[in-house]
Amino acid sequence: MRRTKTNGIEIVCEDEGNGPAVVLLHGYPFNRTMWRDQIAVLKDRFRVIAPDLRGLGESVASDKVAGMDQMARDVATLMDQLEIDQAVIVGLSMGGYVAFDFHHLFPARVKALVLAGTRAPADNDQERQTRERQAARMLAQGMTGIAEETLPKLLAQETLARNPAAADRIREMIDSTSPHGAAAAQLGMAARRDYSEDLENINVPTLIMVGTEDSIRPVSDAEFMHRGIANSQLKIIENAAHVSNFDQPEIFNQALSDFLGQT
Ligand code: MLT
Repeated sequence: MRRTKTNGIEIVCEDEGNGPAVVLLHGYPFNRTMWRDQIAVLKDRFRVIAPDLRGLGESVASDKVAGMDQMARDVATLMDQLEIDQAVIVGLSMGGYVAFDFHHLFPARVKALVLAGTRAPADNDQERQTRERQAARMLAQGMTGIAEETLPKLLAQETLARNPAAADRIREMIDSTSPHGAAAAQLGMAARRDYSEDLENINVPTLIMVGTEDSIRPVSDAEFMHRGIANSQLKIIENAAHVSNFDQPEIFNQALSDFLGQT
């Protein structure tokens, strides 16, 4: 684990292994520990960097709104500090939005992209209002109740029934998230750009992954990105919902390793 002063805050990240760099960007309201199983598998062949994004995990920040573009700039500054010019950028859900902004701002630094459980279009007005309400609720009441409300959408039915340890890890990540950081990330996601027009400009190898049971970012969102990004690969994971790397770690890891082996 490393702590670095990055753009006015302290960013905490994992930095493990040696080889070509792979940067893992977590979803919301999670932290770098969501990549534990991927780091374990990849660190033998790659240098794996997994930061806590601004305001989340141990990367404490006081912003009222944590923009996806700001998080992308944090990742670039972190890479400068770690002396990494170029990396494969892997983002799940919110991490995928950060990956889009990172590619837009620093295209030469992206060797390849992995977009899991994410989507290109921006929010509509109703989605933005829901995020604003949620941010206000978290600031007023903290994270109480969020894990139990969202778990049924985050993990597949089968995982919830048979793998209580996976549900516990998600619960722990959500419960330990700073309400202030989570609210700032929610408002940052509400304000994010529409990435649809970026798709045709993505010319690096790209893997898109999605769980068949993901109701938050369904298969149709993945197919839209797949159609828009030339030569992208699409991996649809059965019996997986939004956090597909928790539902099906072996399948997720195999698809990621195979893809990284081609880049
Ligand atoms: C995530 O898992 O990062 C969030 O569901 C993304 C979002 O709310 O759009």
